[in-house]
Amino acid sequence: MPSYLITGASRGIGFEFLRQLSEDPSSIVIGLVRDKASTVKKVASELGGRSNIHILQGDLINYASLKKAAEDTSKITGGSLDYLIANGAVVSSNLSTHSTLFKLGDNPKALEDDLRLFYDTNVVANIHLFNLFIPLIRRGSVKKVIAISTGMADVDLVTKFDIATAAPYALSKVGLNLVVAKYSAEFRSEGILFMSISPGLVNTSHNDVTQMTDEQRQSFGAMAAKFATYAPNFKGGITTEESVNLVLKVINNASVERGDGGSFVSQFGNRQWL
Ligand SMILES: NC(=O)c1ccc[n+]([C@@H]2O[C@H](COP(=O)([O-])OP(=O)(O)OC[C@H]3O[C@@H](n4cnc5c(N)ncnc54)[C@H](OP(=O)(O)O)[C@@H]3O)[C@@H](O)[C@H]2O)c1
Repeated sequence: MPSYLITGASRGIGFEFLRQLSEDPSSIVIGLVRDKASTVKKVASELGGRSNIHILQGDLINYASLKKAAEDTSKITGGSLDYLIANGAVVSSNLSTHSTLFKLGDNPKALEDDLRLFYDTNVVANIHLFNLFIPLIRRGSVKKVIAISTGMADVDLVTKFDIATAAPYALSKVGLNLVVAKYSAEFRSEGILFMSISPGLVNTSHNDVTQMTDEQRQSFGAMAAKFATYAPNFKGGITTEESVNLVLKVINNASVERGDGGSFVSQFGNRQWL
């Protein structure tokens, strides 16, 4: 009876983790979300209210809510957790994901606010999350902690293909990857696997060109053109279903014994991001 906790389970890739993992009725699947009522409603209408799904309220940037979520998880599972999937993240900001560079005209304050939002949510909050859930993971039988990262955090990719966009986001994910490597260094000897996995380019809301301004669409198009040079077979984003399917295979195959601790890989289990 494996147990899972997924952050950012309200929509996008996180909701798809919730859907696929709860298909096995013997699994306990816990989703951490900001708006509990609306996710409970969505689970009821889209997944027929599966009884092995538990939705907990929590905001990644509110430590007290994360602490309460760890306590509530412990009550649901009897004190342990097998898999922690740190998926929730700020992906786009008010300044837009795809066109945000490290220079924002003459507005250094807006740039600082943006950098802090990404850092607080995607780095600091996940450190708190890991600390709060490690006692449960220790008592679990699988002991896997997965951070959902992005190929945009691959410095070689950025350098070789001049990917200047989404800079504050990418910086936060580079930080997250290092957090994962550090936790792996500390907890490998206890048999706990920490690993960062990129889900690929996935058709979730922030990649929806119909919702973008002209400027965002242009920037996204330019980025996609660079991706096509990087991966000639790249045909555009994949569905959440395809992505989560691939990522779960990577998670299932990975182990401390195989040497996966601290690694940063794609949905293919290697460094090919698309
Ligand atoms: N889509 C892609 O192409 C792509 C590519 C590479 C990596 N990723 C990574 O995949 C993961 C999921 O991305 P996605 O595309 O599914 O993004 P998404 O549709 O924007 O969903 C983001 C999720 O994170 C939650 N979240 C954001 N801030 C939060 C906070 N302070 N506290 C709690 N939850 C918070 C959101 O909750 P609310 O509903 O409450 O806002 C939502 O559930 C992210 O880590 C992202 O970096 C995605």
